[in-house]
Amino acid sequence: MKILAIETSCDETAISILKASGSIEKPNFKPLADLVLSQIDIHSQYGGVFPALAKREHAKNIIPLIKEALKKANLSSKKITVTESLKKDFDEIFTHEEELTKKTLDFLEKAGTPDIDIIAVTYGPGLEPALWVGINTAKALSKAWNKPVVAVNHLEGHIASVLFNKQQNEEKNQPKLPTLALVISGGHTELIGIEKWGEYKFLGGTVDDAVGEAYDKVARMLDLPYPGGPPLSKLAHKARDSKKENPFTFPRPMQNSGDLNLSFSGLKTAVLYTVKKQTDISKEQKTFIASAFEDAVADVLTLKTKKAIKKYNYQSLIVCGGVSANNFLRNRFQDLAEKINLPLFIPDINLSTDNAFMISLAGFLNIKANSSNVLKDQEKIVKLKAEGNLRLG
Ligand code: KG4
Ligand code: ZN
Repeated sequence: MKILAIETSCDETAISILKASGSIEKPNFKPLADLVLSQIDIHSQYGGVFPALAKREHAKNIIPLIKEALKKANLSSKKITVTESLKKDFDEIFTHEEELTKKTLDFLEKAGTPDIDIIAVTYGPGLEPALWVGINTAKALSKAWNKPVVAVNHLEGHIASVLFNKQQNEEKNQPKLPTLALVISGGHTELIGIEKWGEYKFLGGTVDDAVGEAYDKVARMLDLPYPGGPPLSKLAHKARDSKKENPFTFPRPMQNSGDLNLSFSGLKTAVLYTVKKQTDISKEQKTFIASAFEDAVADVLTLKTKKAIKKYNYQSLIVCGGVSANNFLRNRFQDLAEKINLPLFIPDINLSTDNAFMISLAGFLNIKANSSNVLKDQEKIVKLKAEGNLRLG
């Protein structure tokens, strides 16, 4: 089957086309297109993501990106006749946003109906105005092409990102069940237990800031640009490279809480006090603060992960989400996995941060896990809603 996936939950407009066959345990994946258009340059001047601005950018870029993805995938297509009734349906779907209706109709007249089988779209969690752009586009295309839709939870997308691995491709073993997934991103820090694909159990998570959010905020304290994860980890790397002893140390919040919850707000405040205490903070001091922050993050993340594995006797570990692009954390989880002799699955770096390829993988997972996840009926498809606070498990 060929899956066209749409992801617009935050500040990346992303489209992918995946050819998938086989089972979840033994899948065969062939990526046909994988495009990510980041809005980071637009949002970074404000130090964070503005929902209305994100929506505007998604609306501007989504159809051109779909066009480009179809061109890349080089799929055959059948002609479409745009009828008055389709125009009317589009008006309703796009809630009379004329620009999107017109753009989509123009696109359809040229592109026709491509040889895809299903549309996967992220419906939450995320910024609702941004999510709506992807959902409405999926609805319109589903109507015009007469294709079913599978609605995907963004967090399940992050988890599914490990099902594909460029180096080993199909021959790679898939995570053995039951598996534990640690999702670490800009909006989430969650431990999720998976007994069976498609069934998730929330075991614990942050009680305040997400770990990516903490990275972004601490980065700002150190005068680094948004998003702060990559520049902060670069800085920390310098401190480690210097081989000098780190004069700073930060608390490990909730390490003895007895449950599987985490907290990053206190750690962030501890960094803030330390930064404020320095008069004329030097470049070197900043590198040590960054490194001490990463040490604390890695300690609490690995500690709670280990605890969850022990408690539920998981057979493998998945670490995913934007923050899993971090090399220091990757190494720390590698060490943990070796120590407790557990297979570890971390996505390829370019699949760690938001993308649509992971949404097509999660779409495949959903289709295989339960056929009722495939929405064929237009009556059901039009009811699909953006769910900003959607949970997993
Ligand atoms: O998964 P993602 O792309 O978007 C959300 O779903 O939130 O995650 C974005 C988050 C940001 O907070 C960003 O600073 C963080 O992931 N991030 C990193 C790294 N790359 C991205 N954090 C630490 N180290 C990195 N290398
Ligand atoms: Zn994400």
